[in-house]
Amino acid sequence: MLPASVTVDPAFVVGPVRRRTFGSFVEHLGRCVYSGIHDPEHPTADADGFRGDVLELTRELAVSTVRYPGGNFVSGYRWEDAIGPVEQRPRRLDLAWHSTEPNLVGVDEFMRWAAKAGVEPMMAVNLGTRGVQEALDLLEYCNVPGGTEWSDRRRANGAADPYRIRMWCLGNEMDGPWQIGHKTAEEYGRLAAETARAMRMVDPGLELVVCGSSSSAMPTFGEWERVVLTEAYEHVDYVSAHAYYWEEDGDLASFLASAVDMDHFIESVAATADAVRAAGKHTKRIHISFDEWNVWYQKRAESRPPSGDDWPVAPVLLEDRYNVADAVVVGNLLISLLRHTDRVHAASLAQLVNVIAPIMTEPGGRVWKQTIFHPFALTSNHARGEVLRLAVDSPLVETARFGEVPALDAVATHDPATGDLVVLATNRSVTDDVALDVDLRGFPGLRLVEALTLSNPDHTWTATADDDASVAPRANTTAKVADDRAHAELPPVSWSILRLARA
Ligand code: AHR
Repeated sequence: MLPASVTVDPAFVVGPVRRRTFGSFVEHLGRCVYSGIHDPEHPTADADGFRGDVLELTRELAVSTVRYPGGNFVSGYRWEDAIGPVEQRPRRLDLAWHSTEPNLVGVDEFMRWAAKAGVEPMMAVNLGTRGVQEALDLLEYCNVPGGTEWSDRRRANGAADPYRIRMWCLGNEMDGPWQIGHKTAEEYGRLAAETARAMRMVDPGLELVVCGSSSSAMPTFGEWERVVLTEAYEHVDYVSAHAYYWEEDGDLASFLASAVDMDHFIESVAATADAVRAAGKHTKRIHISFDEWNVWYQKRAESRPPSGDDWPVAPVLLEDRYNVADAVVVGNLLISLLRHTDRVHAASLAQLVNVIAPIMTEPGGRVWKQTIFHPFALTSNHARGEVLRLAVDSPLVETARFGEVPALDAVATHDPATGDLVVLATNRSVTDDVALDVDLRGFPGLRLVEALTLSNPDHTWTATADDDASVAPRANTTAKVADDRAHAELPPVSWSILRLARA
C-alpha cells in the first residue's frame, strides 16, 4: 500500500469549473453521424431521423458543447451541399476518410439535433480547400437574421431564427501533412487572421479558435503556435490543442501517465501564447480550446480508411473498444484539463458516437456505453463551482516514457454556493494500492455523500453491447470521513470520485 496525502484548501482557487470543458465532437467520419446520431429506420428515431436512445445517453453524459462537422472531413467540405431538400443534395467523395458523403445531415439537421441534445454547437469552417468567402457565407447562413441571400436560404429551409453560433474553429489541424490543403504556419496564420477579421465584421461577438498543433509530438510543435499567433493574435480568442494517447507495446505504466504529456502540452502552449503576447505588446490573453482529446489506438486496423475504388458510406472506422485502463486514463486527462482551467477554456472529447467514442450503436439496434463513458459522465455531472489546486504528496512510480511520476494524480472542485466538494483521483500505479488521506481542515464538518471507484483486477476488461455494466464504477467501501480527514484505498489502475457535502 502506497501512502499519499492531499491537502484541500478553499483559498487555492485555480479558476471556475467551465461547462465547456465537457464538450464532445461529431464528425462526418465512419458511423458517427450515419447510424450514430442519425438512423431514420431505428425504432427510437424521431421525425428528423435522430436516434432517441443516443440523444438520451448524450444528455446522461452531460456533454456541454459539440464540435462539428470535422475534423479532417471539414478540410474538403462544401457546407452548402447539405442544405435544402435532401433528395436534391449531391453525394461527394470525402477524401479525408476515403468515403462517400451522402449529405443527408447538414448544418440545419445538426442544429436541430444540438437543440434536442441540449448542447452548444461549435462550428468549424473549411480552410483547407476553401477560404474567407465560404466561411463568410456559412456564417451569414447561420447567424444573420434575414434579408440576404444566405440568411433567406436558411429561412426557406425552415429555420426562421438565426442560429447565432458563438464558437467557430478556423479550420482543422492545418499543421498536419495529412490535412487536405495543409499549409505552413505563415500561410495558415495569415489565412486564419483574415478569415477571423472578416467574420468579426459580420458578427463581432464570435469566439474564434485558431489551429494549434495536432499533437505535442509534431516536429513543428511550439514554433507553429508562435508563428500562427504572431499573425492572428488580435483576431482570435483561443488556440486549439489535439492529443490522442494509447498503450503502446504493452507499456501500461507510461500509458497510465498520459496526463503528464497533456500537462506539458497545455503549459507549453500557454507559455508560447504569453511570449507572443509580450513580443506583440498585446493586452488580452489567448486561451486554449483542447478540442480533440481521447485514447485512440491509431495503429489498429479499425483506423485504416478504405482504399482504391471502395468509397463506402459510413464505413466502420476508428471503432476502438475501450478497456478499464483506457477509462482510467480518460479520467486522468479530465483531471489535467480541470487543473488548467485558468488556461483551458473549452475542450472536446473526440468523438461522441461510434468513432473513438463513449457511446456505441448497432445500426437499427442497441446502444451501449464504453468504459470511458463513466469518468466523463461522473466528472461532468458533479464538478461544479471552482477548481482547487491541491497540495499532493505522493510516492513516485517509474515510467519508460516520462521517468518518475506521482502515483496519485488528483484535483478537487468546490461549489461555494452549496459547499459541495468533489475530489477526483487516479492511482497510476500498475501494482500497488494507494492509501489516500485527504486533509479537509479547510472545510470543517463535511460528510461523505458518495465514493465511486472504477477498476477491475483485469484492466483489459472491455464493455460490449451484451455487457456494458458489470465493470462500471462501484461504491468504494473503504472511503470514510472523520475528524475533517477523508480516507480511501485506491486500487492499482483506478479512477475515483469522492463527493462530500455539508453535514
Ligand atoms: O478525431 C479523429 C481525427 O483526428 C480528426 O478528424 C482529426 O482532426 C484528427 O486527426
